[in-house]
Amino acid sequence: MFVCICENITCGEIREAVDNGARSVRDLNRSMDLGSQCGKCVCATRKVIKEHLAESDYDLAVPA
Ligand code: FES
Repeated sequence: MFVCICENITCGEIREAVDNGARSVRDLNRSMDLGSQCGKCVCATRKVIKEHLAESDYDLAVPA
């Protein structure tokens, strides 16, 4: 399912980015331009990130 229609970014691509270290909408904006057009995808993206982090049980600590 597309989350960011403007940049053609799907839930799966967001999950993959989280698997590769992304932890915020800002991270995805930098790497994929997500949210760089209309911005309507930002809330849905936060939800996908939060859910995937919870499912994956990733350590949320920021490396020193
Ligand atoms: S839907 Fe993501 S910037 Fe428009």
